[in-house]
Amino acid sequence: MPKYKVLITDHISQDGVNILKSDKDIEVDIQAGIKNPDLKKIIGNYDAIITRSGTTVTAELIENPGKLKIIGRAGVGLDNVDIEAASMKGIIVMNAPTGNTLAACELTMGMMLSVVRKLPLANQVTKSGEWDRKRFMGIQLYQKTLAVVGLGRIGGNVAKRCKAFDMKVVAYDPYIKKSRAESLGVELCNSLEEAISQADIITFHTPLTDETKNLITKDEIAKMKDGVVIINCARGGIVNELDLVDACKSGKVTAAGLDVFMSEPPVNHPFFDVENIYVTPHIGANTAEGQYGVAVIIAEQVVNALHGRSYKNA
Ligand code: NAD
Ligand code: MLT
Repeated sequence: MPKYKVLITDHISQDGVNILKSDKDIEVDIQAGIKNPDLKKIIGNYDAIITRSGTTVTAELIENPGKLKIIGRAGVGLDNVDIEAASMKGIIVMNAPTGNTLAACELTMGMMLSVVRKLPLANQVTKSGEWDRKRFMGIQLYQKTLAVVGLGRIGGNVAKRCKAFDMKVVAYDPYIKKSRAESLGVELCNSLEEAISQADIITFHTPLTDETKNLITKDEIAKMKDGVVIINCARGGIVNELDLVDACKSGKVTAAGLDVFMSEPPVNHPFFDVENIYVTPHIGANTAEGQYGVAVIIAEQVVNALHGRSYKNA
């Protein structure tokens, strides 16, 4: 008879599921996409749940946590988990911060190149039967200035790749040592304004926190160069959505590439009507390697924690 029950509430790689299933003490239940109120009714029957960004773990959801001891996030961002409420109930919250770093970094690179050359629009227009080469004039990355906001794992990898494109890379991240920026060949700025005011392209790689929500509003956009390009493959809401729409419509921002929304999935979103805003459906982590990475890491951590063995957020 298995001692522990684990519920998986989002799609994760089968490799992670197999790790859990291969432990004779663990019974695995997969209910991808389950939401409140159904989830609330059953959550207390499980020792652990494993989620991605599709499940929001609120204080209300874990009000009566039953035997729930672990919330495992197959990914980085923990903005969808009320960590304080979980801690109050004695529930461990863990994530897999290194598993999808390169997936998110490479999506950012793809987004940057797509946006500056208008590739998604060119694809759409060409397939519709138009041959309009004049319309698709872009800019080069070479010798442009990139501002990376949040020079952690993903931001650092983006910086490294942009250096290979011979870009000048500056960063704003008040929580890192200057030596980290220096080792990446990046100039660390003393303020957000210093970074964003000199950039041709700005890319965001911070978590969504009280501090980073609305980090960029119309006031910060006003301080940017005319014609700046904005990329956000981190979290919706770091850049105020309505202010970005206005700036893209006015041309202050030439174009934006966004993988994330304040509320997902977005319904009738104002971004959808703006030609120079390019969007993808939160696919930063969606590579075979990224999904393998986060699923295996979180599964191993959950197994270890359930057995009372030491574990660490990898
Ligand atoms: P990380 O912790 O390695 O790096 C985040 C960096 O942001 C840190 O260096 C931190 O000091 C910095 N930071 C925090 N607050 C800041 C602020 N106010 N101003 C400037 N910098 C600040 O995390 P990571 O692995 O690089 O991931 C970053 C974020 O990317 C995650 O939190 C997640 O939300 C997002 N993400 C999105 C996808 C996707 O699918 N689109 C995939 C993975 C991660
Ligand atoms: C993350 O924070 O890891 C990402 O949002 C990826 C995801 O959950 O799909």
